[in-house]
Amino acid sequence: MTTLVTGGTGFLGAALVDRLVGLGRKVRVLDNNWRGNPRRLGGVLDRVEMVEADIRDAAAVARAAKGCTQVVHMASVNGTAYFYSQPELVLDVGIRGILAVVDACRANGIGDLVVASSSEAYQTPPKVPTDETAPLVIPDPLNPRYSYGGQKLASELIALNYGRTGFSRVAVFRPHNVYGADMGFEHVVPELALRADDAVKAQPSGKVRFPIQGDGRQTRAFVHVDDFTTGLVTVIDKAPHLSITHIGNPEELTIADVARRIVGCFGREADLAFGASPAGQTQRRCPDIGKLRAMGFEPKIPFAEGIAPVVDWYVKNRHLKSQEAS
Ligand SMILES: NC(=O)c1ccc[n+]([C@@H]2O[C@H](COP(=O)([O-])OP(=O)(O)OC[C@H]3O[C@@H](n4cnc5c(N)ncnc54)[C@H](O)[C@@H]3O)[C@@H](O)[C@H]2O)c1
Repeated sequence: MTTLVTGGTGFLGAALVDRLVGLGRKVRVLDNNWRGNPRRLGGVLDRVEMVEADIRDAAAVARAAKGCTQVVHMASVNGTAYFYSQPELVLDVGIRGILAVVDACRANGIGDLVVASSSEAYQTPPKVPTDETAPLVIPDPLNPRYSYGGQKLASELIALNYGRTGFSRVAVFRPHNVYGADMGFEHVVPELALRADDAVKAQPSGKVRFPIQGDGRQTRAFVHVDDFTTGLVTVIDKAPHLSITHIGNPEELTIADVARRIVGCFGREADLAFGASPAGQTQRRCPDIGKLRAMGFEPKIPFAEGIAPVVDWYVKNRHLKSQEAS
């Protein structure tokens, strides 16, 4: 039994690889290290096979899949800033990537495929907390932001429909706002953490004036990477054929709460200054994780507990920001 993890040097891929190796499973990683970094696999690097290749290179993906019994496909261009700045790349990696993965599985007789989608595949949901039946929508094809949600929507369609023949189990999962140390810099938590560090240094006493996008009432539900990885292993081991499963923590927080807690990690109180929010932002997001709970999963790390070490990691490792992909 060998699992091929694409995107395995990325934030979530590396956490999964680390956990699978810890469970005694054989793992091969495929990543081009565009945004991933083998340093994330530090503790288990000598116990995994590494293939450096582009997920769009169908022949290389087929070679990497040879001898594997399962593929977990997580390679993707993630990070909100890239959705706006590099929408063509986001779509190219997303669409050519899932096709290369499905073809590689078929060419090698691999019947077990698990595919990463995203909460962004449903954008603004009709119901919050949101279960897996929410319709998938692209509100405006001219807004480059939806390059990301669009390729996830297409990936779900390709995985679940091509998966009807020649596969014994195809499972799609949708992570909902995972946070943790070394998650990349182009996300809300690292961005707030570094700005809070700057703000507390620039304002050594009193409340800390802290600008945030929007009116602060937007909500998100953040899941700690350790909980997420437990949820993903649950999906890998238990999700049925042609299924979709939300992975997250249904602890819904306003962005104002999140910003206050992050400034609070520095022992200071925030005085929030509100601004305009970029077009295409979803007002509320919180997963219904009933399906995952029925498989035995329960998140264990509340945001208030999980956030401080993550903020600390970003403050200590801010020099890595200049090495991020561009
Ligand atoms: N982090 C989250 O909160 C979140 C939320 C929803 C969905 N997801 C999805 O989960 C998966 C993992 O996300 P992540 O947070 O670890 O992102 P990440 O950017 O850290 O990891 C993605 C990996 O894909 C690799 N990659 C990019 N282009 C590639 C290419 N052309 N060929 C080969 N590899 C390539 C990157 O180098 C990186 O290691 C992605 O599919 C992402 O869309 C993540």
